[in-house]
Amino acid sequence: MLDEALKQVAVIGAAGKMGSGISLVLLQEIAHAEAAASGRISGEPRLWLIDSNEEALLGLRAYLSAQLRRYAEKNIVALRSAFAEDEALTDNAEIIDAFVEGALKCARMHGDLHKVNRAQLVFEAIVEDVAVKTETYKQVRSQCGPETYFLTNTSSIPLGELDARAGLEGRIIGFHFYNPAPVQRLVEVICSAATVGPLRELAIELGKRLGKTLVMSKDVAGFIGNGHFMRELQHAAEQVADLGASMPDYQAVYLLNRVTQDWLVRPMGIFQLADYVGLDVCQNILRVMDTFIGDEELRCPLVDAFLDAGVRGGQFADGSQKDGVFAYERGRPAGVYSLSEGRYAAFGDAWLAEADAALGPLPEGHMAWRALARDRAAVEKLRPYFRALRAAETQGAQLARTYLRRSREIAQQLVDAGVAASPDDVTTVLTSGFYHLYGPANDLLWEG
Ligand code: NAI
Repeated sequence: MLDEALKQVAVIGAAGKMGSGISLVLLQEIAHAEAAASGRISGEPRLWLIDSNEEALLGLRAYLSAQLRRYAEKNIVALRSAFAEDEALTDNAEIIDAFVEGALKCARMHGDLHKVNRAQLVFEAIVEDVAVKTETYKQVRSQCGPETYFLTNTSSIPLGELDARAGLEGRIIGFHFYNPAPVQRLVEVICSAATVGPLRELAIELGKRLGKTLVMSKDVAGFIGNGHFMRELQHAAEQVADLGASMPDYQAVYLLNRVTQDWLVRPMGIFQLADYVGLDVCQNILRVMDTFIGDEELRCPLVDAFLDAGVRGGQFADGSQKDGVFAYERGRPAGVYSLSEGRYAAFGDAWLAEADAALGPLPEGHMAWRALARDRAAVEKLRPYFRALRAAETQGAQLARTYLRRSREIAQQLVDAGVAASPDDVTTVLTSGFYHLYGPANDLLWEG
């Protein structure tokens, strides 16, 4: 069924941050499978790449071309065997060129939605806005056949809502890639109560084919990943507000970020992560969650205040980081925004040493995340460190412990609400989607 469905595919929002990665992943799969099955790439159009920003589609072509070449170089052994019967292709360079050219011919780029009409699978990665997505689905539905399936990359909008508003009759599923889609292994799969069985099976088969780690999430706004991340962000902001009573606002932000990176041994601190995602995106996700989750206030006044001050974060088209809560130099935080002063406080200034001193030293046995990121024994190596963290009385250790308790509570809340089937599923999302080394319920944090 999957091979049949992959014969005609569309990506809407193809030139965006997520859409371009999704387009690449699909094109690699389509072209490679065609070469493996028939010894050649026909060049027939199979992947319709749609984006309302036609200028951005030019950039998409250049991106796909460069990335397909890298893919072909990496997979040259498999491609040699796929093209083995073509006597015109003898050396690696010819095979790589044939793959890139053939794959690019399979992809057709368009600025209007009409071209989706042939698609059997439609991937959607447009702006995270319920009204815009609904309107787009209504248009697309009217153009596609009754057998077309829709896979949305929404980060937070309940599938049941999109389905009901656009009249998709169970033919939509959440297939939530993480950023960047070609690199990140995690895909959260979200079925609404209406999602039809064959689509669920197809999505699982597709995830496996793409080599992804799949985690099923219940159809509750924010799902597992953002359900956890957004509540942690809220907690961090509350801690900043508490600390702000006794120190300048920017120092409090800096401290929380440092604790959530260094003390928790994570790849980046919570506010740097918010910058990476984009503060406007975080605000949007929180709004969606607040709208659809009735019994909990999901707002973050600190994020709102940054946005009101014009502080947004997010990334440039080349993937480099824009200034946000932090000002960045060569991708690293070099200053932190002061809301009270309306400017960045540079790390070079005297306040930094004072702030670091207030946290106290890192507990004994500390290892940096970077040193452990590829180490299968990371959890065991961190055990003595977390034992020391539990006993330490410094401000850094206290903040870290409070934060970890909240992180564990959030994970439990997601399990209790059935959003995640188990604590292990929360751990899989955090370790494979957020590159954490451990999950919030891991015993290493709490005992041993
Ligand atoms: P983006 O703003 O980078 O890309 C959106 C693209 O859609 C743009 O190229 C825009 O021109 C195009 N577009 C907007 N409306 C359109 C329409 N009606 N028809 C055709 N094209 C249209 O957005 P991004 O960040 O890639 O997000 C896309 C989706 O993926 C959202 O639902 C978001 O929540 C989700 N997501 C985003 C992640 C991230 O880190 N940025 C991570 C995981 C999911």
